[in-house]
Amino acid sequence: MERQVFSYSVVRTGSFEDVGLISTEIKKKLEELGVERNIVRRVSIICFEAEMNISLYAERGGNIFVAVEPDKVDIYVEDDGPGIEDLEKAMQPGYSTAPLWVHELGFGAGMGLPNMEKNSDVFEITSELGKGTKIHSVVFRNKDAA
Ligand SMILES: Nc1ncnc2c1ncn2[C@@H]1O[C@H](COP(=O)(O)OP(=O)(O)O)[C@@H](O)[C@H]1O
Ligand SMILES: [Mg+2]
Repeated sequence: MERQVFSYSVVRTGSFEDVGLISTEIKKKLEELGVERNIVRRVSIICFEAEMNISLYAERGGNIFVAVEPDKVDIYVEDDGPGIEDLEKAMQPGYSTAPLWVHELGFGAGMGLPNMEKNSDVFEITSELGKGTKIHSVVFRNKDAA
């Protein structure tokens, strides 16, 4: 299989019900390509949390790129939203600035970024206040993945 690249725009529709549509789409694509179940699961979690964060925090939306290769899946996430003031803090489990209505819907547990990191083999995040946030995540398709 050659390198397959997929690109998605996360547009803020104002409807919270749309969050998850893109990560579901990505999951389907990977399944179609025959990517191992466990790898699909990890990439789906990473993409869902990315989609959620763009929807919640980046008012102008953002992009998710997924590149599937024989030995790995690369995920690039970028937005030109407000950026993150203290990355170290944001990466801590349980830290969240999500508004009350998000908590009332059962989200905003502050586990999104930590879960993205946990499910990645390589996880790089950069952010600049007033500029935006960029994430590069790699999930290796090792031989024993099923
Ligand atoms: N793309 C983003 N742009 C701006 N701030 C973000 C972004 N992603 C995450 N954050 C900040 O990092 C915090 C932690 O994110 P996360 O671990 O996903 O938890 P949660 O979304 O549940 O709050 C968020 O509450 C928010 O303050
Ligand atoms: Mg989150």
